Amino acid sequence: MPSLFEAAATAPAIPITFATKTTWGAIAKELPEQARQFAAANDFTAKPGKCLTLPAPDGQIAQVVFGLEDETAKSRDLFRPGALPGLLPPGVYRFANAPHDLRLATLAFALGSYRFGRYRKAETSDVRLAPPEGVDVGDIARMAEAAALARDLINMPSNDMGPEQLADAAEALAARFGASFSCIIGDDLLKQNFPLIHAVGMASARAPRLIDLHWGDPADPKVTLVGKGVCFDTGGLDLKPSSGMLIMKKDMGGAANVLALAQMVMDAKLKVRLRVLIPAVENAVAGNAFRPLDIFKSRKGPTVEIGNTDAEGRLVLADALALADEEKPDLLIDLGTLTGAARVALGPDLPPFYTHDETLAESVASHAKRENDPLWRMPLWPPYDSWLDSKVADINNAPSGTFAGSITCALFLQRFVTDAKSWLHVDIYGWTPSAKPARPEGGECQAARAIYKVLSERYA
Ligand code: BES
Ligand code: MN
Ligand code: ZN
Repeated sequence: MPSLFEAAATAPAIPITFATKTTWGAIAKELPEQARQFAAANDFTAKPGKCLTLPAPDGQIAQVVFGLEDETAKSRDLFRPGALPGLLPPGVYRFANAPHDLRLATLAFALGSYRFGRYRKAETSDVRLAPPEGVDVGDIARMAEAAALARDLINMPSNDMGPEQLADAAEALAARFGASFSCIIGDDLLKQNFPLIHAVGMASARAPRLIDLHWGDPADPKVTLVGKGVCFDTGGLDLKPSSGMLIMKKDMGGAANVLALAQMVMDAKLKVRLRVLIPAVENAVAGNAFRPLDIFKSRKGPTVEIGNTDAEGRLVLADALALADEEKPDLLIDLGTLTGAARVALGPDLPPFYTHDETLAESVASHAKRENDPLWRMPLWPPYDSWLDSKVADINNAPSGTFAGSITCALFLQRFVTDAKSWLHVDIYGWTPSAKPARPEGGECQAARAIYKVLSERYA
């Protein structure tokens, strides 16, 4: 990924001119006669997303024109230039004029260069960009590289991305940055009191585990990241229908995104004591699977009745959050692909986030907007807390109704966080259902870039 901006200075770069319906006339006027005729013959009018390569007299590509929304348009996609790597022939390019947001355009170009090429020769073309003046391309490359990590981990099919392989990925990341790594596996989860992680993961032939990574100066503020690492979610005995199960390889999207976030934090050497906890399990079906109405005592203490084995993410997060909470971190953040209800509320591209910390909420919302990594605050609505009541245990993992499913999941998790100074929960989707500029179809980096900027501002 860093090579995107590399060596771009050595070759003459082909200029890309951004145009809108309004500016196109003036831009066309400056073109050589032949190029202007060529654009007219191609009926190019700078419609948003339209790309045209203009020939030089010798038949080479002289320049590129690319359409954007008008400056005043109500909905402008600031990531539109992210379509360029998929449209352009191999070569070195440069931005000839300013798109609407130069930094986001550069980031979009980098994010749009991603291809998942593990299982067949990727259809990548070697498109590079000369570093635009005034843009911190080191930081852009850092974010794009992290996004590629998250996408790769999610796109990997579950047969090659089980709990063990997810732990391998975390261990490789730890090794790269000199972080410490440990893992509690299988029945040791019971011995070390992680009953819920064990309960969810025990039906799989691939043993459940809790991944634990530490990095940084112990004297610095404690920031702990927890990611849902369900490497495949069949729903368990409350089996999902095939349509609902189809993309459940992505159910470790929270884990993938906390690893991406950790990579950015460590690469930028932020002044934090970072900890990453990932309960990595497969929610499988077998004779020894946990059952509806089973009751388990959680690590934190409360007994949990299983209303639905498909509400497994909140169970594994509960034990991991309880552990994280024990050392009273300054900031505790969890990410997970937790509910279909979050998608019903806000769709796949806009994950809801939850926190009681008003200052943090403002910071998250503003950085999410600035980074085009959108997040939307939803409430930890106290009156719904009683919906989690069980008739026989301290709490039920799945309220009987279908209302406010993302909120009740957040309220469930809240029961396991009592001592962290500040807590942020994000119910992500981790998947782009159909390709958009800078966002190829498949696994997606969500919330990690926005939170990286929140942390950068606090702990630079
Ligand atoms: N992994 C799913 C949530 C999910 C489903 C995310 C579809 C994205 C797309 C989660 O484990 C789950 O199954 N949640 C249930 C909870 C319910 C049983 C209370 C859901 O959302 O239906
Ligand atoms: Mn589930
Ligand atoms: Zn799940």
